[in-house]
Amino acid sequence: MHQNSQPTATVPTVPLIDLRAQHQALESQLVRSLRRVFASGRFVMGPNVHAFEQEAADYFGVKHAIGVASGTDALMLSLTALGIGRGDEVLVPTFTYTATAAAVCHLGARPVFVDSVAGGFNMDPADAERRITPNTRAIIPVHLYGEAVAMEPIMDLARAHDLYVVEDVAQAAGGRLGNAMLGSIGATGCFSFYPTKNLAACGDAGLVTTNDDRVAERVLLLRQQADASVLGGQKYSHPTVGFNSRLDEVQAAILRVKLPNLDTWNQLRIKHAERYRALLSDCGVQLPAPSNGGSHVYCLYTVRSPERDRLYRHLRENGIGAEIYYPIPLHLQEAYRFLGYQRGDFPVAERLAEEVLSIPIFPELSDEQVERVGTVIREFAFSAAGRAVEERTA
Ligand SMILES: Cc1ncc(COP(=O)(O)O)c(C=O)c1O
Repeated sequence: MHQNSQPTATVPTVPLIDLRAQHQALESQLVRSLRRVFASGRFVMGPNVHAFEQEAADYFGVKHAIGVASGTDALMLSLTALGIGRGDEVLVPTFTYTATAAAVCHLGARPVFVDSVAGGFNMDPADAERRITPNTRAIIPVHLYGEAVAMEPIMDLARAHDLYVVEDVAQAAGGRLGNAMLGSIGATGCFSFYPTKNLAACGDAGLVTTNDDRVAERVLLLRQQADASVLGGQKYSHPTVGFNSRLDEVQAAILRVKLPNLDTWNQLRIKHAERYRALLSDCGVQLPAPSNGGSHVYCLYTVRSPERDRLYRHLRENGIGAEIYYPIPLHLQEAYRFLGYQRGDFPVAERLAEEVLSIPIFPELSDEQVERVGTVIREFAFSAAGRAVEERTA
């Protein structure tokens, strides 16, 4: 140590997410499963994929669950299986991850953006209705951050205008709306098992859920280069242009170990969220909560603050992981400029992009870590900067 350096007190750090904790707890089970995969020599379309698909169908309460390579592919294969393509319009929230809209663009269809509901994060059904044209074929509600979309008005809209509903459940695996599992309500449910999701693979992976036998057949066909043998036809005969989007055995084996833990992990996330609510309800930040009788499984714990950027810096300076999901709504992204939207077109989403901040949440977060995050935010709230927030939000 340099002679003049001061001994520094160790500041407890809290990561936004810690992917190691879950794997340490499950290590022996995971290793045993993976050994079996390596010993079998089957890495694609093997027994783990088929077993996981059955287990996932049972868990999500659907007739069919089809493993694919990612959440983005789940969206693309769903939309393709529903016959959506060039010239079609698909309603997509502007406040979501780019994958939701990118999947639509890759099929040659046009994303038509929809604003978020005032006071919330998810798609506003009234705004969706205003944007329906004769070319609209589908609507993609995204259960953002883990909060269930109020599906009833979306389903009513779909029935009235003959639209397919494709649920983007990438951030809400295990969430519910009444008795229904998210992903079982629309024509299809599209899941991502990216490593930071509630149900996470150790790489990329995804799933399409559906109760429709014909859609399931189409997705099965499409994920394997549309080889007719998938449906009992001739091998190397291709009735349509397909994709290569298979879930692999290694990821399926990992997901099989993890799926039985999903409810427990989601309950832990909810417990941490409740503690955050108790700690932060007087801090001038808007806290997330379930709405419309649906669940919130807190894939992300996202608060809103008019002093977001200063709060973000304060957290980072104090060793607390924080991130902005998402700083630019899709209609203002360069990628979607060709759609012709302007700043001001989606005022709720634009405000969200300026105010949202996600703070640490993962099942293995300790009570001490939650308290520490709460303390750091309280310090900010009751400092000079924070008092300004309080006055403005009063
Ligand atoms: C809302 C949403 N939709 C779709 C996706 C795409 O999933 P993946 O990364 O598995 O392709 C993600 C993943 O980050 C997401 O958060």
